[in-house]
Amino acid sequence: MASAHVVLAGLDIGFGNTKVVYSVDGGPRTEIIFPSGAAPERLLPVQGDGTRSHLGGRTVEMILGDGTPKGSEVSTWVAGIETHKVQNYIRPHSANFTSSQEWSALLRSALDRMDVARVDVLVAGLPVAEFFDVARRQALRKSLEQAHRISASKTVEVRKAVIIPQPLGAYAHFMERLAAQGKTLSPDSLVLVIDPGHYSVDYVLMQDSSIHQASSGSSAMAGRQVLEAASRLLYERKQVRISVDRLEAVVRRGEPTLDIGVQQVKLSALMDEAGKLVCDQVLKGLEGVVNGVGEGLSHVVLAGGGAPLYERYVRAAFESPSTLVDVAEKPILSNAYGFWQSALSAHQLLGAKKVA
Ligand SMILES: Nc1ncnc2c1ncn2[C@@H]1O[C@H](COP(=O)(O)OP(=O)(O)OP(=O)(O)O)[C@@H](O)[C@H]1O
Ligand SMILES: [Mg+2]
Repeated sequence: MASAHVVLAGLDIGFGNTKVVYSVDGGPRTEIIFPSGAAPERLLPVQGDGTRSHLGGRTVEMILGDGTPKGSEVSTWVAGIETHKVQNYIRPHSANFTSSQEWSALLRSALDRMDVARVDVLVAGLPVAEFFDVARRQALRKSLEQAHRISASKTVEVRKAVIIPQPLGAYAHFMERLAAQGKTLSPDSLVLVIDPGHYSVDYVLMQDSSIHQASSGSSAMAGRQVLEAASRLLYERKQVRISVDRLEAVVRRGEPTLDIGVQQVKLSALMDEAGKLVCDQVLKGLEGVVNGVGEGLSHVVLAGGGAPLYERYVRAAFESPSTLVDVAEKPILSNAYGFWQSALSAHQLLGAKKVA
């Protein structure tokens, strides 16, 4: 296990939620999840006493500008907020998420919530397509490996950062769980990892430690589309408009019903119906990918916040006596757990190099 005073972390900043798994001094792993909403404090609603409501988020200080004392200013942001309560808020959604101010605020908030002064090894992920862009990968690593200012009195330093393809986190977590059961996988076994998140369903076909790039990719039919379909169904049936962000907050809080004026709508039935519409489309595409491989899968690993919704349909599509479907106990944290596992391996490797 890790030697004394070592902090290892897996960080998975998604468009929906920020997930962290970390350990201090080889102790138990701690989990953190918060919504990936971040905005400048000045945009948040004013309360009766004149102060800004932080909507459940926490403040971080960002230095914006060109980095010189003259050309820079300190801007207070709040990260971890439910965005449906922020006026005129436009959620970031672009391939350049990791270069956005929102991402930077979420990173700082994740480091702040870890309550450590230093992280020895931090592993984060990039979507498969972006990972193969070497410049993008190196830029992200460099931006992570520095002392991050949280406030005037707090800084958290990241000593070493490692970037891996996102779904490899879920794969590493799956391998860890197999090993804990005393099982191993033949190096020829094909494992399909499916990660339904908020903006994309990422999938990757793995054989041992190799990615089958041609059989990996991403579909935009993700959690957001399920929520959009549910919002549409609500409008068609009850003539009420409920925003996707509000629906998302209700699902996140695990509330069973939604109050719409005098009525209450049972959320599980609505989400099931909306989920089926979206999952059917994604799985149809995936079956084509799998058939193209021409060989049977040994496992299908389902990860991500959308896993509870997808599980039934994934089992119906793939489960057979020769193909097992695997869902972690907390699939939303699968990538972060696998990233942590990679942080541990990287740390052990660094230690071995120092000794040699
Ligand atoms: N219990 C649940 N049942 C169904 N869906 C859920 C549940 N909890 C979260 N979700 C959905 O999961 C999605 C968020 O999952 P996750 O945190 O894995 O996404 P993300 O990693 O932030 O997104 P992306 O990978 O696209 O950047 C949301 O769209 C949310 O609606
Ligand atoms: Mg994700």
